[in-house]
Amino acid sequence: MKHYPIEHECRKRIDFWPDKPVVFGGDVLEIGPGRGDLLMHMAEAHPEKKFVGIEIGKRRFFKLIPRIQKRNIKNIQLIGGNARVVLPLYYRSNVFEQAYVLFPDPWPKKRHIPHRLLSVQFMTLVARSLKVGGDLFVATDVAGYAGWVLENAEQMDFVELVRPPTMNKPLIDGYIPTFFEAKWREMGRNIHYQHYRKTREITEPLDDEARKVIEILGDEG
Ligand SMILES: C[S@@+](CC[C@H](N)C(=O)[O-])C[C@H]1O[C@@H](n2cnc3c(N)ncnc32)[C@H](O)[C@@H]1O
Repeated sequence: MKHYPIEHECRKRIDFWPDKPVVFGGDVLEIGPGRGDLLMHMAEAHPEKKFVGIEIGKRRFFKLIPRIQKRNIKNIQLIGGNARVVLPLYYRSNVFEQAYVLFPDPWPKKRHIPHRLLSVQFMTLVARSLKVGGDLFVATDVAGYAGWVLENAEQMDFVELVRPPTMNKPLIDGYIPTFFEAKWREMGRNIHYQHYRKTREITEPLDDEARKVIEILGDEG
């Protein structure tokens, strides 16, 4: 997914399933669940927790709904929209215990770096949405992307690496490979896993992009 100006992203409709919540809460967040296999697996394993999936791809979002219904899973809230908009608008601070960003679109070339999702700016938004002590899990099949995320995290003094990053050894309890992971593994690619923790409250003001979202769409967070 390209990194378009936020004004452009704010014009797009946000979809909710099963419906638009009155209170935007949750325990576990997955950004870009795609086919949703891991999200559904985790939700079934932890019926006591509420899972939130934010998926920008409308086709993916609408395909995921019947899959969840078929498995009769009741503890998933799906939001069809750009997490760059949805997070500052609805989930600004100290909500989730865990967040997952697995196999973000790689944009492997240097000139494409502005399109990558896990920038310092975006990771800060995700970290804001976590409770202090909350965990962020990242996985990618692109070594350069993994290194870039590590460099970005080093610039954020409110997150720390919980354990050294691993290759081909998931750091997530009760993990099943996502659709993309299974595909890359079959092709013999190495998978890089990272596990971060939020170490303190983020008191710094929101960045310009997040502030613009609130300016344009209102203040629901
Ligand atoms: C390569 S796929 C990985 C899907 C899934 N995590 C997996 O591992 O099978 C990347 C996913 O992130 C979603 N995505 C990309 N940018 C996003 C954004 N800004 N907000 C929400 N979802 C996003 C894409 O639509 C896609 O479903």
